[in-house]
Amino acid sequence: MLRQGRTTPAQKRALEELFPKYGIAFSAQKVSSSQNLVLEIGSGMGETTIEIAKAHPEADFIAVEVHGPGVGSLLNAIEREQLTNLRVIRHDALGVLEQMIADGALAAIHLFFPDPWPKKRHHKRRLVQPAFAALAARKLKDGGILHAATDWPDYADYMNQVFSKEPLLEPAPAGFAARPVTKFESRGQRLGHSIRELLFRRAGKAPAAR
Ligand SMILES: C[S@@+](CC[C@H](N)C(=O)[O-])C[C@H]1O[C@@H](n2cnc3c(N)ncnc32)[C@H](O)[C@@H]1O
Repeated sequence: MLRQGRTTPAQKRALEELFPKYGIAFSAQKVSSSQNLVLEIGSGMGETTIEIAKAHPEADFIAVEVHGPGVGSLLNAIEREQLTNLRVIRHDALGVLEQMIADGALAAIHLFFPDPWPKKRHHKRRLVQPAFAALAARKLKDGGILHAATDWPDYADYMNQVFSKEPLLEPAPAGFAARPVTKFESRGQRLGHSIRELLFRRAGKAPAAR
């Protein structure tokens, strides 16, 4: 689903006035790391992002989104909730991962409902590809979680296959944070779509033998 649409006056104001406060401008400089740094790719309107950041004050979150109205909404929500652990980057997530995130820096990557590009001839536009899996795995710390969700069964199968083939990833028993159900998702559930969660982690060193 593509969220097109105009920027509302409130979103426009947020982009102008709140981005300097809560945004990080795209640059080739690495963001400063923290013990628990979580990157969300494609935060959309940011409902899930806000809920997870509120529930986990011990972690730091960076939401990456290209869509202006979504970034504006999220900035307004950060201000409303007075969150100090969530920042936003308005840029393509691949560039952000490559340029702004140090290898081994992330406790988790969240990829919730990436654009499904349902037509077969558009599948190559899907974000998840082997090169993405390798890049994402490299940015995770040992044991760091890659958590994806989708309601497109063939995309879920494909992501599962791609993540399973990436040597730096292994299936994970649990995510970094429980994923709250969004409006978008509950609408999908009413339409009978089932949601698939994919949980992988960066394969770390084997635990020392006792
Ligand atoms: C289907 S929406 C899902 C939004 C949100 N995660 C949710 O669950 O409601 C996918 C979002 O990913 C964003 N997106 C797609 N490709 C992206 C990329 N390469 N970098 C950053 N954001 C991207 C789109 O703009 C869109 O807002």
